[in-house]
Amino acid sequence: MDMNLGSQKIIADLLAIRTGQQLTEDRSWRIGTALSGIFRQLGISNVDQLVCLLDQPGHSTLSQQVVEALLNNETYFFRDRAMFDQLSDHVLPQIARQRKKERSLSILCAGCSTGQEALSLGMILLEQKQRWAGWKVEITGTDISHGAIASARASTYSQFEIQRGLPVAQMLTHFNETPMGWEANEDLRALMRFRVHNLLDPMPAIGSFDLVLCRNVLLYFDSETRQRAFARLMESLHPDGWVMLGAGETIVGHTDRLASVKGGIGLYRPTGSRLEIPDLQFS
Ligand SMILES: C[S@@+](CC[C@H](N)C(=O)[O-])C[C@H]1O[C@@H](n2cnc3c(N)ncnc32)[C@H](O)[C@@H]1O
Repeated sequence: MDMNLGSQKIIADLLAIRTGQQLTEDRSWRIGTALSGIFRQLGISNVDQLVCLLDQPGHSTLSQQVVEALLNNETYFFRDRAMFDQLSDHVLPQIARQRKKERSLSILCAGCSTGQEALSLGMILLEQKQRWAGWKVEITGTDISHGAIASARASTYSQFEIQRGLPVAQMLTHFNETPMGWEANEDLRALMRFRVHNLLDPMPAIGSFDLVLCRNVLLYFDSETRQRAFARLMESLHPDGWVMLGAGETIVGHTDRLASVKGGIGLYRPTGSRLEIPDLQFS
């Protein structure tokens, strides 16, 4: 695809300004591929023409469409299974002890994409029925992408999507087959709140979270943006809460307000909270 480097940079800058995501030169091939649907729709053939259209007044819907198309929404159920096992077997039981007076559990999935991560957690909670009976349990999924949040709210997945990471037994327990696809059942949907939110913006006042997942979102932030993102996440985290990042992500060099939990995978707690809990045995 013919691509003027100046136009390419304008598109990369648009993405970075709106979302913090950096489209470095080695990933600039994504521009042509990700925008091909928009090119077809507009009857144009290259990024230079797109930039001309973006330059005209009243382009806000188009620029939003371009940003959405460039975001990487890759996700699937129980992505990095060992991390969900760690939540299920160690972290959630620990939070249940920490919050036994309040009987309230609040979880944030920041950058939840089309909802599979939040729903995976929801299934774990429903399968620990006894532990959470009588509790107020809420999972909030946020993402900057309007399209992703619309899909998360619909919680309805194609055959291909439902099979990615989700064992058949859980699919049959928690989803119903409909003409539109596999739809999460009432019990599961009742735990979920999905909303559009840029994690670099202040978090709307919806309380503080016991557990914050922010997995595979910060990867393409530059260092300064990552520090801003951590500051925002800390604002919404309970002082004795838990943070889980993606398997390949780290806090090193980006915040000193979190410290890793010994033996955990991608697991962090606010500095100063107890990081080694005697009955929290990681293998
Ligand atoms: C690769 S997906 C990860 C989804 C899920 N957390 C997982 O690990 O499977 C990254 C998501 O982060 C979202 N995202 C990127 N920048 C964001 C920002 N500044 N604020 C909120 N969400 C953002 C993208 O729209 C995308 O849906």
